[in-house]
Amino acid sequence: MKRIAVLTSGGDAPGMNAAIRAVVRSGIHNGWEVYGVKGGYEGLINGIFTPMGTRDVGGIMQRGGTILGSARSQEFKTERGQLKAIRSLNEAGIEGLIVIGGNGSQTGNLALHRLGFPVVGIASTIDNDLYGSDQTIGVDTALNIALEAIDRLKTTASSHQRAFLIEVMGRNCGYLALMAGLAGGAEHVVLPEVETDPEHIAEVLTTAYEHGKSHAIIVVAEGAKYNATELSNYFTKHKERLGFDLRVTILGHVQRGGNPNAVDRILASKLGAAAVEQLKKGKFGVLMGEVKGEVVATPLQKAVETKKVIDKELLNLAELLD
Ligand code: F6P
Repeated sequence: MKRIAVLTSGGDAPGMNAAIRAVVRSGIHNGWEVYGVKGGYEGLINGIFTPMGTRDVGGIMQRGGTILGSARSQEFKTERGQLKAIRSLNEAGIEGLIVIGGNGSQTGNLALHRLGFPVVGIASTIDNDLYGSDQTIGVDTALNIALEAIDRLKTTASSHQRAFLIEVMGRNCGYLALMAGLAGGAEHVVLPEVETDPEHIAEVLTTAYEHGKSHAIIVVAEGAKYNATELSNYFTKHKERLGFDLRVTILGHVQRGGNPNAVDRILASKLGAAAVEQLKKGKFGVLMGEVKGEVVATPLQKAVETKKVIDKELLNLAELLD
């Protein structure tokens, strides 16, 4: 192998740049040429490659986002798009590809693998919804952003004796909501994995009130059956009976922005170097992640098809301590 490429895809995540840096520098260390693909799979289809040297990735480790850009490509979801991407790679003489991203991105990567192109994936998404890595690159930074927001809301909630719904990201996975709720001392967490109806939230708030709590925080994952806006609308509709006036804060993309913390930079450095090592060994079609502190390679098919489950013990703990 002489020439490889790296791309970032899907929602950006803090630490993606540190992973790009590790791929570029490890690749060059092997004597390879490394190319960056601009704009995710869309750029791959259109053959937008840029050569990357050691200095091109200097000073990017501490920057959030991705210097290569990202996109959600509809065309790449079709076999026609995937074949176009492989044609672009072949025309540029690229013999191996590393894809940094979450579940959707690795599903695309698996499609390239099935079409016979040598690929390796790196687990990176703030959703932490990818089997094969206890934590994906970006989630620790996002969690700390959510936690800071909860701490800030708590001070104003206690001043006004109010109940707040705070919505965090997580389309299909309640990891961020659970961990932010546990670390932030929330009264309740609402997750996609556990069906919670608004009447149950009312019971939680009533119990908290009866136990003498002057304020309450409920953390809601955006992908839960009822998101924060829907829960709040329900409480407004039944205000006379339920009696709570809920305030809503939706954190949104704030959680994806800003500089990666040390955990994400270190994880990204390890997984970036390990992905290059896999290509070097000729072990393609795998996702690089970290499980119980060890860097592991999981077959892409297993990584994208296995549902990551929520830690029930931590959920019980969050409920016990609220
Ligand atoms: O996949 C990561 C994520 O941040 C999800 O939590 C969220 O639902 C989605 O991306 C938002 O996507 P976009 O940035 O395209 O609006």
